[in-house]
Amino acid sequence: MPINTIEWKNDCVRIIDQTKLPLKLEYLDCREVKSIWKAIKELKVRGAPAIGIAGALGVVLGMKDCPGGDINAFKRKLEQVIKYLASSRPTAVNLFWALERMKKCDKKSLLKEALKILEEDKAVCRKMADYGSGLIQDGDTCLTVCNAGALATADYGTALGVFYRAKEEGKSFKVYSCETRPLLQGARLTSWELKEHNVDVTLIADNTAGYLMKEGKIDKVFAGADRIAANGDTANKIGTFNLAILSHYHKIPFYIVAPVSTFDLKLKSGKGIPIEHRKPREVIHLQSKKVAHSRVKVYNPAFDVTPDKFIRAFVTEKGLIKPPFDKNIPNVIS
Ligand code: MRU
Repeated sequence: MPINTIEWKNDCVRIIDQTKLPLKLEYLDCREVKSIWKAIKELKVRGAPAIGIAGALGVVLGMKDCPGGDINAFKRKLEQVIKYLASSRPTAVNLFWALERMKKCDKKSLLKEALKILEEDKAVCRKMADYGSGLIQDGDTCLTVCNAGALATADYGTALGVFYRAKEEGKSFKVYSCETRPLLQGARLTSWELKEHNVDVTLIADNTAGYLMKEGKIDKVFAGADRIAANGDTANKIGTFNLAILSHYHKIPFYIVAPVSTFDLKLKSGKGIPIEHRKPREVIHLQSKKVAHSRVKVYNPAFDVTPDKFIRAFVTEKGLIKPPFDKNIPNVIS
């Protein structure tokens, strides 16, 4: 089943409204840059590569009424639109990477560049899947967190792309999906996506992962990433760090699947990665149902940083990157 997470259609950006899944598969047409900003902020479109594509197409919308004739006026407006889109979410570097590419465009090349970013993502997903599926053996049981699938990219996904390719190759394996509180990307999106693709998936509450590992039921963990520093420290959905420590303790290989656009070589380590903090409402409510006192204090970081030493390898479109990461990452990525 093809999942059209994001596309350019009839002069607008058509996205799947992911806040409605899995109950409704609804599309949202964004015609203004403001609606793209809101869609990113509210996680209607989400996942690092998809946010990058949305940002790039958002620039096209933001610049649609600006004639390219006066170069200085065009550049001023372009910077303004880019700054606005960059304020939507801070952690996934793919957004800033895509906006940087858009910054170099003139009026004529804006749409071409945004569509190039989208098309490139499709090819990159397939390449990561090629390399990653080599890590899966018949009989494996894998664990994943959040959603690093088709809903997070323009095509196959990153971590989930590995499963799709292994399935196409006829391998027999199982996947556990962590529900991923507070916004339930694992429950709502990953288990939906994997089921739609006939991958054998079992949903677990986040706090079940340690027990499963202790029982010897997990062979490998695959996660996506939002930003990877030059030394391999990796920001991903909150709770990824817990899984990495648990994997290390149980000697289970922990893999990060991410495109080159997710690496931020300007940052030496994970210390400099900006972590998004979101509203208390997301924790006080479970979807729309209130589950805690309305005025209780809440701490709600959306991402955490896994230190490089817990990561067995990165799967990228350029192949696998193994330790020592501080040498091998800059060698492969730059
Ligand atoms: O807050 P989200 O849903 O945008 O967080 C997404 C993740 O953490 C993904 O694992 C990451 O972006 C990689 S997606 C290929």
